Amino acid sequence: MIKIGVLASGRGSNFQSIIDSIDSGAIDAKVACLITDNPAAYAIERAKLHNIPHVYINPAGSKDIFYKTIAGELIACGVELVVLAGFMRVVKKPLIEAFPMRIMNIHPALLPSFKGLHAQRQALEYGVKIAGCTVHFVDEGVDTGPIILQEAVPVLSDDTEESLSARILECEHRIYPRAIKLYIEGKLSVTGNTVRIED
Ligand code: GAR
Repeated sequence: MIKIGVLASGRGSNFQSIIDSIDSGAIDAKVACLITDNPAAYAIERAKLHNIPHVYINPAGSKDIFYKTIAGELIACGVELVVLAGFMRVVKKPLIEAFPMRIMNIHPALLPSFKGLHAQRQALEYGVKIAGCTVHFVDEGVDTGPIILQEAVPVLSDDTEESLSARILECEHRIYPRAIKLYIEGKLSVTGNTVRIED
């Protein structure tokens, strides 16, 4: 059974969807640790409820040391796959090099559109009619790594940032566990920027 390390900065509803998929038997994995950059993250409460070890790492100061410390924790926990679940920072080299093509992220937009922060607001401001979410492997760019899964939702004429975010979040909770399951089953292969999914 593979060990997953989760990084989260806040609410942690994606973290919860992963916990739930493991508990229901849909994913054959164990969350070995939660790492957070925010001591007030609600994700920590979720970890406590499920007896998942959790570590707060202070992001102040050198980013190099911050990411080396995170990589060290994950390695010490025996983690094979790193899952960013609302981790609101750009991951830097020391972590990426420790887990090449073994870090996944979920982003609340159909990449390559609307990278970075407030993706749902960006989508509304642009006036797109279709929005959605993307699970991708993390490389050194911001939301640029190879795309694993995407799901689309309509943008409705009376949508607010909150209503659109809620509709996208429902998809997030579906596709993130699905992408992790594909990884665990060895069904993902990456060539250049393309992820091939085996049937
Ligand atoms: C999710 O919508 C996730 O896609 C987004 O933050 C939210 C976290 O919610 N992530 C990003 O915007 C990363 N750039 P959660 O804490 O309830 O999972």
